[in-house]
Amino acid sequence: MKIFGIFGDPIVHSLSPAMQNAAFRALGLDACYLPFRITKDRLGDAILGASAMGFGGLNLTIPLKEKALEIVLPDDLAAAIGAVNTVSFGQEIMGHNTDGSGAIMALEEKGIKIKGSRILLIGAGGAARAIAYTLAKEGAEISIANRSPGKALELASSIQAEGYGLEDLERLVPQADVIINATSVGMKEGDPRLFDGNLLHTGQMVFDIVYNRETEMLKDAAKAGAVAIDGVMMLVYQGAKALEIWTGLKPPIDVMEKAVREGLKARER
Ligand code: ATR
Repeated sequence: MKIFGIFGDPIVHSLSPAMQNAAFRALGLDACYLPFRITKDRLGDAILGASAMGFGGLNLTIPLKEKALEIVLPDDLAAAIGAVNTVSFGQEIMGHNTDGSGAIMALEEKGIKIKGSRILLIGAGGAARAIAYTLAKEGAEISIANRSPGKALELASSIQAEGYGLEDLERLVPQADVIINATSVGMKEGDPRLFDGNLLHTGQMVFDIVYNRETEMLKDAAKAGAVAIDGVMMLVYQGAKALEIWTGLKPPIDVMEKAVREGLKARER
């Protein structure tokens, strides 16, 4: 049996084991995906240990994604983003970042063509970085708005995009084909809106990386007749892309989505 795993600290709430094990079952693979609590200072030992034990692959989550760059050989995208969420074991121990492609696949599934689309990315933290670099590679026209405008400008300048503050959203939101919330705003009930929902209109796509609840932004999007996509799909597609890297197989998206949504429901109980 091939062992796969996710390393993080904390790790107990991760939905990846349920999602990946459901996928393995659906694909008929003799494989098992387990969560491991690994601290930053033992990450090197843990990755080399997994390699020595013949693991099939790894995911990394908070707080290990950046630290991994010191241990694995990152591909160009992971190196540009500065974070690794997927490790593969071949001739080399390679580091990949599938967070951004998770977001892009979630959008493409809804019929959007990334190349040439006007995309407004809100946020400039770790998740936004992964999405920004991946989108830039796909040839999107990107604007980045962040609470701290300096961080937006910095990220934007590294991918030849435009950077703004949140006060510019009033002008930027109506002009965008796709609006992505890559901030943590919306995770908690009672979080403020980043912009007035009336700025949205039909024909737009609104993607919120928050996955633990239906955010006000997504409710506003649905009300405005825009397409609303929740963060579950990013979680599913980043995992699907990782599975594809490890096995070369076509991931069973529906099965993976169902496992994540059931896992989230079980949490509420
Ligand atoms: P992650 O790795 O999940 O992206 P992060 O790197 O801490 O987390 O980034 C959090 C993002 O949410 C940042 O863009 C942050 O804005 P700042 O760069 O100005 O801190 C944004 N964010 C967090 N709380 C916010 C709030 N109350 N209003 C607006 N933006 C917020």
